[in-house]
Amino acid sequence: MKKIIIANWKCNPITLKEAERLFDSVKRRARKVKNVEIVICPPFVYLLATQSFSHRAIKLGSQDCFWEQKGAFTGEVSPLMLKNLGCKYVIVGHSERRRWFGETDEMLNKKIKAVLSAGLKPIFCIGETLKEREDGRTFDVLKEQIEKGLVSVSQKEIKDLMIAYEPVWAIGTGKACPSSEAITAALFIRKLLNELFGQKISKTIPILYGGSVNIKNAADYTKEIQIQGLLVGGASLDAKEFIGIAKRVSKN
Ligand code: PGA
Repeated sequence: MKKIIIANWKCNPITLKEAERLFDSVKRRARKVKNVEIVICPPFVYLLATQSFSHRAIKLGSQDCFWEQKGAFTGEVSPLMLKNLGCKYVIVGHSERRRWFGETDEMLNKKIKAVLSAGLKPIFCIGETLKEREDGRTFDVLKEQIEKGLVSVSQKEIKDLMIAYEPVWAIGTGKACPSSEAITAALFIRKLLNELFGQKISKTIPILYGGSVNIKNAADYTKEIQIQGLLVGGASLDAKEFIGIAKRVSKN
């Protein structure tokens, strides 16, 4: 399976000019990276501009979407709109969406199904908070998020899904999860996917790690077969660092 590196720009940068400059710089550097799928998820407002910059070395993704395809839902953006704009991926259930916008497992389940039915690939984020980790509940939380998030997702569609293990305490803190622990979590997720969907289907679902990934620690995760890619936040706002991460991963 080809490794995948995803940039989550979050709510950055604040001007279109900066977004175009960053995208262009990533695109130029990405040409030299082989055997890695590179995805950029800019804010909605920059999708159109970055689409015209797009290049076969880079795929476009969105950071969120709504669960209906059209209608009276003020302020929302639908999976079909994203597809028609050239997006291939949609991040669903990022912990910042869960935390600041009250997104529940039930809402995320609807989003995942809508993304899949539009023919896009959901990047489904799961992960425990620091408190849950300290209480020894990490695996319970991951199990609940997966089971609820994937309720009645069809076996046929599930192959387009990917799961990003993102411990909440590791996001944006500079305290990356030790790779051995991320691998243990990935093994647990894989076992659960095997149980839920069977090994043949589970094998098609990449498991990624995210949380304070940088050029120094990136390869620690992807050198192990259990982790097939990375979701990168802060470090993706620096084209040199981001493509440096992709290059390290391509050598694993
Ligand atoms: P970070 O963010 O790399 O800045 O920790 C990762 C994420 O939120 O996906």
